[in-house]
Amino acid sequence: MKTKAGFQILVVDDDPSILEMMKFILNSYGSVTVADNGTDARNLFHKFEYDIVLLDFLLPDTNGLELLKEFKEYHPRTEIIMITHVRDVKTAVQCIKEGAFDYLNKDFVEDDLISIVLRAAEKLKSTKEMMYLRSEVERLTEQDFIVGYSEKMAEIMNILDRAAETSATVLLNGESGTGKELAARYLHNHSKRADKPFVAVNMASIPDNLVESNLFGHEKGSFTGALKTTYGKFEIANGGTLFLDEIADLKFELQSKLLRVMQESEIERIGKSEPIHVDVRIIAATHRDLKELVTAGEFRDDLFFRLNVIPITLPTLSERIEDLPLFVNFFLKRYNRKYGRNLKVSDEALSALSKYEWPGNIRELENLIARLVAIHSSDEIFVEDIPIDYQITDTVLDSGGDSHRDRLKAATDSFERSFILRVLEKEHWHHENTALKLGIHRKTLEYKVKKLNLAKIIDQRRRDN
Ligand SMILES: Nc1ncnc2c1ncn2[C@@H]1O[C@H](COP(=O)(O)OP(=O)(O)OP(=O)(O)O)[C@@H](O)[C@H]1O
Ligand SMILES: [Mg+2]
Repeated sequence: MKTKAGFQILVVDDDPSILEMMKFILNSYGSVTVADNGTDARNLFHKFEYDIVLLDFLLPDTNGLELLKEFKEYHPRTEIIMITHVRDVKTAVQCIKEGAFDYLNKDFVEDDLISIVLRAAEKLKSTKEMMYLRSEVERLTEQDFIVGYSEKMAEIMNILDRAAETSATVLLNGESGTGKELAARYLHNHSKRADKPFVAVNMASIPDNLVESNLFGHEKGSFTGALKTTYGKFEIANGGTLFLDEIADLKFELQSKLLRVMQESEIERIGKSEPIHVDVRIIAATHRDLKELVTAGEFRDDLFFRLNVIPITLPTLSERIEDLPLFVNFFLKRYNRKYGRNLKVSDEALSALSKYEWPGNIRELENLIARLVAIHSSDEIFVEDIPIDYQITDTVLDSGGDSHRDRLKAATDSFERSFILRVLEKEHWHHENTALKLGIHRKTLEYKVKKLNLAKIIDQRRRDN
């Protein structure tokens, strides 16, 4: 049996021979501190953080059970092993009820001690793993990262592969839906840290007043509502990668804190004065121009330079439009499997999709394919089946007829169609309310619905919603 040394262990017993023996045996499993009375133990416990405490039930100045309750309340994740006398089975059981991990008889042999400590260590490890699992909003089940044929992506893969060999900070830039998070996961999965946690935090989705505690953790009672001691994302990601998404949303005051943590590899939990060492690789992402924010005084330049060690900008979908068929097929496969279907997309439909701007990039394409697979009744998607919003661009302009007038008409019709559809959708397909919002009479709206051939699409959308 082996375990990595590194646990913080506290042994509390008034018998010096027990303290000495435990220290001797447990030294290879972590760093061992001893206390021979309750007062010292309490002081140590409040000052330092222990993973495992071996606690004598009978202490000269304190009742072990009281101390156990106090410790469990203060730091619930510490595993406490009670040291009891053979006759004390009843008290031992009571201790377990109060949250002790297990108990060890005072006449133990070396193997008993090692085995119980290793079991506690195993539990500690799995608690940490559970926390890490929970902390990830949703682990992507399919991690395929499509590279495609564009020169830009070939270049990016080159940088990603080289960056994966190091622990250098990477700043991912790119519009929404271009695959920043996927690129971050790719980096992690191809690095030496791959078997350690990848933890993602989105700065934009955490309320301002909770960001600090989310990143660095807090001690029980350090602020109103801090009912338990909680690990921050930095500690959960220890040894692995921390993905700081939407970094531009990090408040100015916290920017300097983050910078300090990155420089010193140490965090301070709120309410705890001793710093904790962490080894975390940072990948940050933003869809905004950080340099511009620095100029505007909204983002600290020193943090920007610290993050911008390896800058990578992911191309928009229209900058790599040659990859669109690849993505369409990839998402078709994914959603066909999910919905038990066998949908195809016709070549004409594919080329129509290639003319769209894709402001929402790959995510927007994925959503469209998912929606089509879910609701389309026949087995093939033709141009007419593509929702009108995706055809407003060149397709419409090119197919509107010969004269400028015809093309303009086609374009305005198309705009009107998608505009009316959006308002209808917002108003839950209620015609009266939609007309009111649009500032037209209900009769006019009905006329437009007819003239613009909207009835079929409205039906489809309603079913879709
Ligand atoms: N190269 C790729 N290969 C396969 N799927 C991709 C790729 N890039 C993006 N996707 C898919 O597109 C969606 C959006 O990707 P991701 O969340 O990584 O984008 P993002 O840049 O982080 O977007 P946002 O800024 O909106 O958070 C995901 O569902 C992802 O699976
Ligand atoms: Mg993202």
